Amino acid sequence: MTHEKPQKTDKTKAKGESSAPVAGRLQVIPDTQSRVLIRWLWHDYLQAHLGYVVIALVLMSLEGAMLGALSYLIKPMFDKVLVAGHSDALMWVALAVFGVFSLRAIASFGQRVIMSRVGQKVSAKLQGDLVAHMLTLDGRFFQDNPPGTLIERTRGDSSAAATVWATVLSVAARDMVSLVSLLVVAISVDWRWTLIAVAGAPLLALPIHVLQNIVRRTSRRARAASARVSTRLDEIFHGATTIKLSGTERREADRFEGEINEFVDEQIKSVAGQAGIPALMDLVAGLGFFGVLLYGGQQIIEGTKTVGEFMSFFTAMALVFEPLRRLGNVSGAWQAARASLERLYAIFAERPAITSPAKPAPLPVPAASADIRFENVEFAYADAPVLRGTSFTAEAGKTTALVGASGAGKSTLFHLMTRLADPVKGQITIGGLATTRLALAELRGLYSVVSQDALLFDESLRDNVLMGAEVDEAQLHAALKAAHVEDFISTLDHGLDTPVGPRGSGLSGGQRQRVAIARAVLRNRPILLLDEATSALDAQSEKIVQNALESLSKGRTTLVIAHRLSTIRNADKIVVMDKGRVVDEGTHDELLARGGLYADLYRLQYSDGRTVIDGSLSKSGPHRPQGETGEEAKETGLLAATSRMFGNMLGLFGRTKD
Ligand SMILES: Nc1ncnc2c1ncn2[C@@H]1O[C@H](COP(=O)(O)OP(=O)(O)OP(=O)(O)O)[C@@H](O)[C@H]1O
Ligand SMILES: [Mg+2]
Repeated sequence: MTHEKPQKTDKTKAKGESSAPVAGRLQVIPDTQSRVLIRWLWHDYLQAHLGYVVIALVLMSLEGAMLGALSYLIKPMFDKVLVAGHSDALMWVALAVFGVFSLRAIASFGQRVIMSRVGQKVSAKLQGDLVAHMLTLDGRFFQDNPPGTLIERTRGDSSAAATVWATVLSVAARDMVSLVSLLVVAISVDWRWTLIAVAGAPLLALPIHVLQNIVRRTSRRARAASARVSTRLDEIFHGATTIKLSGTERREADRFEGEINEFVDEQIKSVAGQAGIPALMDLVAGLGFFGVLLYGGQQIIEGTKTVGEFMSFFTAMALVFEPLRRLGNVSGAWQAARASLERLYAIFAERPAITSPAKPAPLPVPAASADIRFENVEFAYADAPVLRGTSFTAEAGKTTALVGASGAGKSTLFHLMTRLADPVKGQITIGGLATTRLALAELRGLYSVVSQDALLFDESLRDNVLMGAEVDEAQLHAALKAAHVEDFISTLDHGLDTPVGPRGSGLSGGQRQRVAIARAVLRNRPILLLDEATSALDAQSEKIVQNALESLSKGRTTLVIAHRLSTIRNADKIVVMDKGRVVDEGTHDELLARGGLYADLYRLQYSDGRTVIDGSLSKSGPHRPQGETGEEAKETGLLAATSRMFGNMLGLFGRTKD
């Protein structure tokens, strides 16, 4: 309902943009018409506050009209009171002036409070919608748009978009009414004077048009630079440990300075452009006054006009320039905000490629007895092929292990099964039904996943295990016990209620992994996916947790990825992968007897039962996450929450950040 406008109007354009070869980055739809943007903003966000907006408009008009009233009162003030010396007129003129100011004060106060209230609500809804919408988008979107950029969209662009309409409306109501009422007063004094005063105005059309274009261009660049600044900050603060250990503090600080300076340069240009418009108007105003003074002054000297008339006119014209200046400003402000609106609109126009089918089919067999088959699956991230025709079956209720060198495409198989990405060719079936025919929520609901980089949220340990599940204490404790989380709870200050820090940085790598396992145990779904689930544990804990996982996998279709081959020895089937293809499959003993890649890997790892080398530890496993999540800068508040969320989205898709 809310985002139907972007969807309909610009769908094709946005699609074309997003699949552009330029690293797939989200491209701004250039020059989305102002009309379209205004209609969207009005329809989806402002209309709901129609009542308040109308009241604000009335108050604004009142505020505007008071300027006209004031300039009108100047005439009797001079002619009746000051020049003619009628003391009986003194009181009513003074009271009227006071009344005008009082009304203006009340109207202005009420209008501002209402407008900021509506503005904040609109901004909040816009941000809420934006985040909800972005969470429906594919992993690719989060890969192409780093967290910093998305934070900038959510915070910066939304507030720019939500405040501009207040400026536009107040100009439309208050300043237009001021302008008209002041012009009426001026014309009522002398239409010829008025004509002379505004004769220069048409000269402004061309330079204002040029300035507007400059403002729009520079604002766009400023917003893009601002997004880069946020990205840099996000990476610096998340990578503080890595930066320190590699001694690149100066380099990072310099890079940041470079980005912020670029932003500032564009921002200055944009503001200069915006300021140029009222400045031009002042020049033309000066010319107008010059003409009126020469012509009108002569008339007063000759006695055909009174001083009061002249002062009234002069006041009206002097007051005209303030609303006129704001009117000039509004186009600049709109052009600046338009850059933000276009970006937001472009995001709302993005559609996920991975969606539920229009008519989802039910799983034909109970999930517990559904085989999972990969049928000639091909897959590529961008253009680099990762899977080149992978076929194998993971039998229902059995444990299937996936082994192969780092980068062979094992984790990718999990991403495809859970539809974080879709194959380019071939299909994956569950119980004979293609995964694409199941409702997305139902499909993902089939799995308990322990992924390679266990991502924890900056909440309590309890919330991290529960992940919104509603279970009783007994079930929770059973899961904690099975995953050996209980072993370290007592060492934490507040036990289960201890906050785990941003991305779980308050826990060790092995502790984080056990929390992830506890989540999976508690989730209790028919299919279990374990990607290097115990790689960060010491040998002893690993053995214990391994046993727990083995008992968990009883009766469940389980797929295990492991580099340490000892942990998958007992699997019902081992699938050996090499460069995106299945090169062998069988049980441990069969594979060893056959003497292929698996036997080589095994011999490399175990010589006389002793570990010689562990291929996993140098590249993946426990060391990588620590670089990202070690002692991170403590973040708090909204920005941190947004950053965390986008960071975690990224993690879900398996993108590694460094
Ligand atoms: N998000 C991504 N974008 C681009 N390429 C990616 C992405 N994720 C993985 N790849 C590439 O896909 C290939 C397979 O990655 P995958 O994570 O499936 O390997 P893996 O077998 O799980 O390796 P490991 O044992 O190290 O976890 C790698 O060559 C990697 O460079
Ligand atoms: Mg992997």
